[in-house]
Amino acid sequence: MEELIRHPMRMRANRDERARQNFVTGLRAFVLNDMATGMRRVYEGRVEPQFESSHGRKPADGEEVHQAMKPEPYFRFYSSMRYNAQEMVWRSILPILERERDDVRDRSRELSAEAEREGARLELDDHLETPRNVTAVDVHLMPGNYHGEFGDGDVSMGALYDHGLAVFSFGMMGSNLDDIGRSVAGYVKGRYPDFQPQRILDLGCTIGHNTVPWAKEYPDAEVHAIDVGAPGLRYGHARARANGVGIHFHQMNATTLDFDDDSFDVVFSSMFLHELPKKDIRKVLAEAYRVLRPGGLMIHMELPPNNQMSAYDGFYLDWDCWYNNEPYYKPFRDLDTRKVCAEAGFDPERYVQFVIPSREGYGEDTFQASVSRDQEVGRDTTGRLAAGVQWFTFGAWK
Ligand SMILES: C[S@@+](CC[C@H](N)C(=O)[O-])C[C@H]1O[C@@H](n2cnc3c(N)ncnc32)[C@H](O)[C@@H]1O
Repeated sequence: MEELIRHPMRMRANRDERARQNFVTGLRAFVLNDMATGMRRVYEGRVEPQFESSHGRKPADGEEVHQAMKPEPYFRFYSSMRYNAQEMVWRSILPILERERDDVRDRSRELSAEAEREGARLELDDHLETPRNVTAVDVHLMPGNYHGEFGDGDVSMGALYDHGLAVFSFGMMGSNLDDIGRSVAGYVKGRYPDFQPQRILDLGCTIGHNTVPWAKEYPDAEVHAIDVGAPGLRYGHARARANGVGIHFHQMNATTLDFDDDSFDVVFSSMFLHELPKKDIRKVLAEAYRVLRPGGLMIHMELPPNNQMSAYDGFYLDWDCWYNNEPYYKPFRDLDTRKVCAEAGFDPERYVQFVIPSREGYGEDTFQASVSRDQEVGRDTTGRLAAGVQWFTFGAWK
């Protein structure tokens, strides 16, 4: 059986535990590929025509599709399979974490100390208040959420996230869980070869898995990553060292960054904004504008917006908002991304958005061929964790 995690922060699973993880991985792949295809067929073959004959029109948006699908046994079965598979993701890691907690903490300490000696800082702030969007719910059903701490120097939530994400993503996020970072950083580098960022910032980095590729793509740049969760930052600092790069990690709230004006060339985030209330998204974008140097690039990998896809695809992606403890998911997806960037100070003429094929999934040739060829948000594959995934990104030049 292949190991889920290959870097030295890996927790050792026994045969039974690996078998269980394999099962959950397979179950998720089945639900998100095969069952999702079946559910669309049910919608197109029966639910949409019935809606049309009773309303004289097709469903206008994802919410109308949702209401029409709710009584369908296929949707109910899909949802309960998906919900249970999500809980099983974390349960397939927790017993290992209970056993390995102290060991992974000690390995983390050693690697972190090495990173510090080489100049990569880890700055934690005991007084930082954890925002309510993190404390109020266990996001995507992850027990303890990002900030839960169990003792001095604890890294549990970092280890749970790293290993859980590997089970959750069934290979779709790359063998080192860094495909988003690799794809976005590689795309920016390929598309703008003369742009040579000296300072790069990743917001809401969790364990820095998608920060690492920026440090690899731009080895001369100084790379910083922030998050509010200390256990993930400790783990991420060590994990970056284990992956051969030095990154400065800071415990900081992205709505009030402790960095100077005009001090970064790139402000990046990945899967971050959809976990924030709308008022905080606006603050984060305004902060990104403030800390960017003129000529710098803000780029967020995110779920694609509802106004760029069909009602059914919108409904499909918003499932997490209704059933996976992601309360801000749909409000984020309902935003007009160009408009919110403009409201934060960016010139609408300098807005950018790219649909980037997964670098590991499609292979280097297809990936390189995609650079500089603008693509529309595609049905099925954009932002959807299933075969052929493509990453939606948006942002603006300052
Ligand atoms: C889905 S995770 C991001 C995942 C990661 N960037 C990736 O590439 O997969 C969201 C992260 O945002 C952090 N977070 C939530 N609110 C925040 C805030 N106001 N400032 C900084 N980090 C925040 C959480 O602690 C969590 O680690």
